[in-house]
Amino acid sequence: MYSVLFVCLGNICRSPTADGIFRAKAAEAGLELHIDSAGTSAYHAGEAPDLRSQQEAKRHGYDLSMIRSRQVISEDFNQYDLVIAMDKSNLENLQAYKSNACKAKLKLFLADFAPDLGVEEVPDPYYGGAKGFTEVVKLIEQASEGLVAYIQQEKK
Ligand code: 4NP
Repeated sequence: MYSVLFVCLGNICRSPTADGIFRAKAAEAGLELHIDSAGTSAYHAGEAPDLRSQQEAKRHGYDLSMIRSRQVISEDFNQYDLVIAMDKSNLENLQAYKSNACKAKLKLFLADFAPDLGVEEVPDPYYGGAKGFTEVVKLIEQASEGLVAYIQQEKK
């Protein structure tokens, strides 16, 4: 089954939001996929998503409550077709960590799947206010639609 892994730093704000939103968009489009999320760090391993992310997602109709944070592992690069970073720092860490020959394609979520936004990175909302969490949902909804279209093309 085609598979997608979303990656941010803590796996409690941006990548679980991408997991929940993209899961809903893929289901709407009738795509059967394996979807997960992970962090480049283990700072929050085992934790549920940040309550601010959960609440903002819920306000838009997405449930993140079942997600638990985990760190990226080397096998992820051979398990997943796409490993999608939320920002450039995440992408650089993934590029440094992966082996040369691996199955996964590494992507930068907004730059690769919502280039028209003119914003290349999903900003880290962790230390900011409520507005940041709203912005994260908006950006991720748009890139998720681009990602659905990309996978529909890939599967043709
Ligand atoms: P995330 O946000 O990478 O979107 O999950 C963060 C969560 C926690 C931390 C940083 C970013 N932290 O430093 O604990």
